[in-house]
Amino acid sequence: MGQSKLVILGTGGTIAGRADSQSQGVGYKAGQITVQSLLDAVPDLEQQALGPVQTQQIAQVDSKDMDWPVWRALLRACAQALEDADTRAVVITHGTDTLEETAWLLHSLLPATKPIVLTCAMRPATALLADGPQNLRDAVTVAASGGRSGVWVVAGGEVHAAAQVQKVHPYRLQAMRSVEGGPQALVEEGRVRWLVPDASSSPSSRAVLPVPTPSCLLALDELPWVEVVFSGALARASGVDALVAAGVRGIVVAGTGNATVHEGMEAALQRARDKGVWIWRGTRCAEGLPVASGLGSSPAEADLAQLPVAKARIAMMLALAAQPRD
Ligand code: SIN
Repeated sequence: MGQSKLVILGTGGTIAGRADSQSQGVGYKAGQITVQSLLDAVPDLEQQALGPVQTQQIAQVDSKDMDWPVWRALLRACAQALEDADTRAVVITHGTDTLEETAWLLHSLLPATKPIVLTCAMRPATALLADGPQNLRDAVTVAASGGRSGVWVVAGGEVHAAAQVQKVHPYRLQAMRSVEGGPQALVEEGRVRWLVPDASSSPSSRAVLPVPTPSCLLALDELPWVEVVFSGALARASGVDALVAAGVRGIVVAGTGNATVHEGMEAALQRARDKGVWIWRGTRCAEGLPVASGLGSSPAEADLAQLPVAKARIAMMLALAAQPRD
């Protein structure tokens, strides 16, 4: 029997970006270079992979434009790889901008039976000192080296859990961080050094609300519409009312401090609830978690207030998609 393979899926991003000159670190075009070419830029990639590698170009998008067809194709490819006995692990090249949302989606939906490792770059592939090749090599190392099952993000020599990872800087190389704690592991000279015990099977690290099965989700033409509404000085009701009138199914409020909401918005949120729109509250604070009481009408909603709002929005889409419709 042959060795089991590593599947590498390309979706675009800065890691596959091309600029007009080597010194150009912004203003480049993301999602230009094929995933096979990205692999070719890492000389010892096959050695690091400890076996054969198979690539698949899922998309070539700037991840700010991530849409349901791309997510659906990615989800389908990951689900197939998890079921395929000849596949050991999956690596995904992705843009940094919505990486945490894709990581959360995969983490919420897929069984943690094999490593799924997302990686990215802050500089385009054409840059003088591109970070993509090293990040890709590190991601392959994490996936191949008897890696832990579950969804991981590898960037800047660090390994982050899908539930914690967040993009925290628009430009610097070390742009991905684990909120409320440090990285789970470091990749040093082609070796992974785990900093925490293996908790990939811990229920607390999984989605807290029901999610549809991947096959039910794949049958959908779109995900339920959920928006994030920002509360702050001079916040008004009219934005919430307009969203409800336009048919939004759920609203995540990026609240102040302990997930508090401007009084000018409260009545509109209650009107929305009365019409069946789901409302969750989180915090707009960059660090820490809300500790206020009464964060939701159920324990699950209170738990979801602990998610950064970008992930809470995806969690709400999945939870709405799992609801029976009349
Ligand atoms: C993107 O998210 O696709 C562009 C930005 C990046 O990858 O850093």
